[in-house]
Amino acid sequence: MYEMKPEYYTGISTIDQEHTRLFELAEETYQLLNDDFLQDKTNTLIHLISELINYTRTHFAHEEEYQRSINYAGIEEHIALHRKFEDKLLEFDFDSLGDDFTAQNETAEELLGFLTKWLVTHIMNADMLYVKK
Ligand SMILES: [Fe+2]
Ligand SMILES: [Fe+2]
Repeated sequence: MYEMKPEYYTGISTIDQEHTRLFELAEETYQLLNDDFLQDKTNTLIHLISELINYTRTHFAHEEEYQRSINYAGIEEHIALHRKFEDKLLEFDFDSLGDDFTAQNETAEELLGFLTKWLVTHIMNADMLYVKK
């Protein structure tokens, strides 16, 4: 369902590999949301969000390092977008979900919606700006 499309490629292989991994994590969230057999999704959600937080930090650090290396004029603005995304991820509170199945699904759906919309919009409208054509 969620994966890289040709238009998402920047041509910088490290960046593209990292974006691919982020789409994989979105796909994992989608699969979890649609898993009707799993009785309790809280643990998987907690695992997913921590992987997302760690992985985006790594990815953002690489992007920001690359932007510095090319003296990208829009770096400050770009960094602010990254920090905003990190803050939003930290707002998701899975610890309080308990065994409420409906709440688990709603939170998974909210995470998925936020993540996929952000990924595509950020890659297309922000990341593409620092990519030299
Ligand atoms: Fe990116
Ligand atoms: Fe970025």
